[in-house]
Amino acid sequence: MKNAKFEDVFREGLADLYDAENQIVAALPKLIAASSSEELAEALQEHLDETKEQVKRLDKVFQMMGEQPAGKTCEGMQGLLKEGERIISENEKSPVLDAGIIAAAQKVEHYEIASYGTARSMAEMLGQSEVADLLQETLEEEEAADENLTEIAADIMGGTGLGEGDEEEEIEEEEIEEEA
Ligand SMILES: [Fe+2]
Repeated sequence: MKNAKFEDVFREGLADLYDAENQIVAALPKLIAASSSEELAEALQEHLDETKEQVKRLDKVFQMMGEQPAGKTCEGMQGLLKEGERIISENEKSPVLDAGIIAAAQKVEHYEIASYGTARSMAEMLGQSEVADLLQETLEEEEAADENLTEIAADIMGGTGLGEGDEEEEIEEEEIEEEA
């Protein structure tokens, strides 16, 4: 991107997200099929439906900008989803695998939260407030999906006697919130 403008960085980010979302649509059925927890499978299914709407929302964003979603490969998402597939291939269907699936899915959510947060802020700074609003909507859905996965993990792991790190994690979370 020689002599690139701010707009180009913004567009790159959107094209990256567009490909990332499509990769997620293709990958989620595998995570759903590998889940032993009904609660987890349902949450992932819901997020799959939501993700399909998020792709449409990005279509709308590109339309508003008078552009086509560019053919870009999101290598970051490829890597994260590959890790998820490896976890599935190396473990039997079980609550332990469920925890691994949640860990992988939360990395995906955090990637999206980072990317949508940046894209939303850039849209604002570039004066594209309608686009910023659409991106904010998706950002909030990703954050809710992430929080939901944390709760499901607590349900799954609460029953295994492996809950000892919990207190520490809560403190960490508080610290993060304070910093934000
Ligand atoms: Fe998404």
